[in-house]
Order: sequence, then structure tokens, then C-alpha cells
Amino acid sequence: MSRILPLQKRGLAATPLIYGCMGLGGADWSGRTPLSQADIKEAHEAVDAALSIGIHFFDHANIYKSGNAEKAFSYVLKERPSLRSEILLQSKCGIRFADEQASFTRFDFSKEYILHCVDGILQRLGVDYLDILLLHRPDPLVEPEEVAAAFDILQQAGKVRWFGVSNMSGSQIEFLKTAVVQPIVVNQLEMSLLHHDFVNVGININRQPAIGDIFPEGTIEYCRTHNIQIQAWGPLAQGAYTGAQNLAEAPPVVQKTAAKLSEYAEKKHTTVESILIAWLLRHPAGIQAVIGTRNKERILACKDAANIELSREEWYDLWITARGEPMP
Ligand SMILES: NC(=O)c1ccc[n+]([C@@H]2O[C@H](COP(=O)([O-])OP(=O)(O)OC[C@H]3O[C@@H](n4cnc5c(N)ncnc54)[C@H](OP(=O)(O)O)[C@@H]3O)[C@@H](O)[C@H]2O)c1
Repeated sequence: MSRILPLQKRGLAATPLIYGCMGLGGADWSGRTPLSQADIKEAHEAVDAALSIGIHFFDHANIYKSGNAEKAFSYVLKERPSLRSEILLQSKCGIRFADEQASFTRFDFSKEYILHCVDGILQRLGVDYLDILLLHRPDPLVEPEEVAAAFDILQQAGKVRWFGVSNMSGSQIEFLKTAVVQPIVVNQLEMSLLHHDFVNVGININRQPAIGDIFPEGTIEYCRTHNIQIQAWGPLAQGAYTGAQNLAEAPPVVQKTAAKLSEYAEKKHTTVESILIAWLLRHPAGIQAVIGTRNKERILACKDAANIELSREEWYDLWITARGEPMP
């Protein structure tokens, strides 16, 4: 089912699928291992596969392989200079790995750190601007005025066009807005048939929450009310239903859901990956799915997702199976 996405309502040429670049840039998260020719080839192949199924939206974060994911992507842009204007480029900042200031990871939404991060992102990607900058995870020490000052500078310098957040509740976004004047246009959260607590929390009002329901209640409604684009990270459930781990050793509910997904894939003449994403896209919030596989075949397996029609009953059937318990 094709829906008008919240970002499209704001005039951005957003596609329902986003290619998440966390897997690019080699295996070393410290970023100390220099990029290899194989890493660069892998980036080319992943981007080509994504473009071939109509994805024109790429998601980064400055921490992905400590910058090496962005560097790997820059080689693709260098080889195809016209690509920059044909895609939407998003990155994130705010998570700070161990460095000369501290030996542990923490979050940092200070004005100086946000500005420092964006300069690094632009330099590594080899671009002049980001279409969207997200704050990666809520910083408990956030001062909305600091974020506002950083956003103003970035916008006025033409370095960032739009701003958003990631892993935040509606009330955290509302708090930022006490000082930030730019619209918050994106909230990126983990959502999938496996991590389906974003649906559970909406029906568990007045009930005991299920174990593992950690999604902040009201977030979906907040984003829908304020035309904020919800982006689902982990939409393929990190391969839980498609063989990343041995299914025979998976919990019974995962095995049953995998079987149900295969049934739907067969019935709709498509792949399990496309059904998994179609389930997210069926939600009326107009969710975007951020797929993160580097595997070319798995990227191509997502190609039908936006064209699959799931009825209300089919959508519920998948969710109830993944819940492992009937509706209240
Ligand atoms: N905002 C945030 O806090 C946040 C957090 C995490 C991720 N993200 C973004 O979301 C994107 C997607 O996240 P994700 O990678 O967790 O989501 P995903 O698309 O659900 O999972 C992709 C991961 O699962 C593996 N996988 C999938 N199917 C598999 C199979 N059949 N067999 C073996 N491995 C399989 C992939 O490995 P292969 O590459 O080998 O296929 C890859 O590591 C990331 O790239 C990033 O852009 C955002």
C-alpha cells in the first residue's frame, strides 16, 4: 500500500525504504583499521543494490565504525558525483565513544560537540550538507538551549537542512522543542515484527504490560499528531526469522512467526524480507524501514515491500503470531 509519508508532506523526496549504512566500513568499530579495497567494493555493491530497488535515502551515524562507514560511502559519491543531488543523506550524532576526555561511552548534546560532529560527518562523507541530522540517543544532561544554538548555526551555515531525533519519546521531543525552533521531522526507533512492543503498548492501557514492552507509550501518537516521520531501525529483525541464527534453536514463538511469514511470502509470491517490511509499512503512521544488511541478495529481497497489500486481518494475524498470545 503506498502512503504519503510525513517527510513527503514536508516536500522531501523520501522513499519508504532507507538503506542503513551501519554495516559498511569493515568490521572494526574502533575505526583504527584503515578501509580496505574490499570494504569500498562492498559499499559500492550495497548502494547499487539499494538504488536498483528504488531506495534513494541513506542513513548514517558518525559512530558507525567510528566514521569508516561514512568514509566508505564517500567513495561511492566520489565515483558518481551526480548521486548526491539524487538522494537524501541522513546522519546522526550525540553518542560519544571513549576518547581523550573519558574512557567510556556517553551521550553528548552540548552545542560544541554537535557542531564538532557535523563538521566531521561532512568531511568524511565529502559533502557540503546533510539533508537530515538526527540526535542519536537521549542525553540525560541535555540543555535544549544548547541544542537550539547548534541547530541554528548548522542551519544558517547551510550544513544541515532538517533536524530529527532517534530513540526518543514524545515527551523528550516536546522538551527539546522548548528551545529548538526548527521542526523535528524524524524519530528513528527499533520496530519490527520481533520488536513489536510499539504496538503492544497502545493496547495495554489499564493492563499489565508484557515482559519486554519497553516502547514509550504515546510515542507513535505523538509523532502522528506532529507529522514526524517514524523510521524503523532493525526492520528485518536482524535476521531472526531468516536464518541469522539456527531457527531450530529459536524460541517457539519465533519459529511459529517464521513459518507464518513463509506462508505469507508464498501466498503473495514474494520473500519473507518483503513481508516483514510490508507489515511495518501497513501501519497508518507511514513508517519508513531502515534496512541494514550488506548482503546484496538480502537487499534485493526487500524489493516488493512497498507494493504488498496486507489486509487488516493479515496484519493482525502476523502481529498476534509474533506476540505469541491472543488479543485481550
Ligand atoms: N537509531 C539507532 O539507534 C539505530 C540502531 C541500530 C541501527 N540503526 C540503523 O538501522 C539500520 C538497520 O539496523 P539493523 O542492521 O539492526 O537492521 P536489520 O536490517 O533488521 O538487520 C540487518 C542485520 O541483520 C543481519 N541479517 C539479516 N538477515 C540475515 C540473515 N538471513 N542471515 C544472517 N544475517 C542476517 C545483517 O547481516 P548481513 O549484513 O550479513 O546481511 C545485518 O547485520 C542500520 O544500518 C542503521 O542505519 C539505527
